[in-house]
Amino acid sequence: ISARLTIDPRFAVGPINRRLFGSFVEHLGRCVYDGIYEPGHPTADAEGFRQDVIDLVSGLGVSAIRYPGGNFVSGFRWEDSVGPKEERPRRLDLAWHSTETNEVGLHEFASWLDKVGSELMLAVNLGTRGTLEALDLLEYSNIRGGTALSDRRVANGRAEPFDVRMWCLGNEMDGPWQLGHRSADDYGKIASQTAKALRQVDPDLELVVCGSSSAHMPTFGEWERVVLTHTYDDVDYISCHAYYEERGGDLGSFLASAVDMDHFIETVVATADHVGAVKGSTKKIDISFDEWNVWYIDRYHGVDKITGVDNWPVAPRLLEDAYSVADAVVFGNLMISLLKHADRVTSASLAQLVNVIAPIMTEPGGPAWKQTTYFPFATTSRLAVGHALEVRLESPTYTTEVYGEVPVLDAVATHDPETGAVALFLVNRDQNESHEVTVDISAMSGLVVTEAVSLWDDDRSAANTLHDTERVGLKPNDSATVEGGRLTVTLPPVSWTAVSLS
Ligand code: AHR
Repeated sequence: ISARLTIDPRFAVGPINRRLFGSFVEHLGRCVYDGIYEPGHPTADAEGFRQDVIDLVSGLGVSAIRYPGGNFVSGFRWEDSVGPKEERPRRLDLAWHSTETNEVGLHEFASWLDKVGSELMLAVNLGTRGTLEALDLLEYSNIRGGTALSDRRVANGRAEPFDVRMWCLGNEMDGPWQLGHRSADDYGKIASQTAKALRQVDPDLELVVCGSSSAHMPTFGEWERVVLTHTYDDVDYISCHAYYEERGGDLGSFLASAVDMDHFIETVVATADHVGAVKGSTKKIDISFDEWNVWYIDRYHGVDKITGVDNWPVAPRLLEDAYSVADAVVFGNLMISLLKHADRVTSASLAQLVNVIAPIMTEPGGPAWKQTTYFPFATTSRLAVGHALEVRLESPTYTTEVYGEVPVLDAVATHDPETGAVALFLVNRDQNESHEVTVDISAMSGLVVTEAVSLWDDDRSAANTLHDTERVGLKPNDSATVEGGRLTVTLPPVSWTAVSLS
């Protein structure tokens, strides 16, 4: 079977919400300290933030950033992170067995977000705290003044409210590792109560209830059903989290990870719609895919994990995966999966942003650099504008150990109705062969290729590291040509490609 697809603006899936290109900063390892914040660094600004990191984050094109966790948030007291720095307590961070100094808190992070041009998305602690503390944080953050907590924010140097729109009702509450882990029934009740309380302050907040930590949790599916049965009328989103890694040298299955992500999204949508049907509701719940990435999690459990009652380091090196070319191809494919479901996935957060399973790495006192995954994210964020389009892809298939028979290729297109610009994102999962793809673009006249780039390398394990920060980058794909209403483009083995036309 030859590889063919069609780009036609009439095949729109839905508008692409910019929040699809969000990320995640957790107080974990060297994400904040020695990552975005390093007062002694030669590029540090007056607030101690690394300018080289600010520049890389700005170039990545990140919309909303979820903060401050993650597992961290389930033991977090937000009050520790505001007020004079010298009075802020040092605390045990049980999630990552570290010491949290609270040097960077809500005010500092919001100021950093202004520098990188991103929006704040806050998670509240529903693990070891409850509705009242969530209300307190909302009052502190969003009320202009005239109350104890809003006046405290003003006294702490921020006259204007933070005006946080997106709020996560806890984190991964289905996970036995989570501080305050609950049953779906117990969590559904506290999430509903907290959501109602937050809406009494501001009915227009956008609220995210916790879905499953992965589609492979034993409670997956039932968790979503029970939690949404409690919270359907109270929330706007249910979260999905998914991490993928190559296991046991099975590259074929790893390259097909997006097949799993597609299935995950479609299953959660079906479950949410089922709950809506039972309730006789016309409302739709969207997905906030607020943690996704490639993550070699087995390495964390095997090597990195910190233990010892007298051992609570500050900003240890944790989850510092170096991403290969193959990892970046899978990563680019995960972005294709998100775009293919843009009608229901209207928010997503790449987990995470700096040093911790991140597209950006730093060395204390030294350079900051782009990992391989930086390239598909930055390019997709820049080019995927307007509506996501279904492309009716015809592709050869191959057989994987984990997912059975899967397409060799995957693709999604976007179309901007305002400018007429079109973008096409593709992956080739074939480990040996290039594939030429023929694209019918006859529905639009006069399009020419304005940019065509691929991420691939003869060495699929190549990565950017401290010792060679620019080993891997995007390569121009000169094969992309338009003739007689057809675009053809050749995809190298194990590659991710973006083509833009206007
Ligand atoms: O992103 C790393 C961790 O993965 C987060 O803290 C947690 O929510 C998830 O399990």
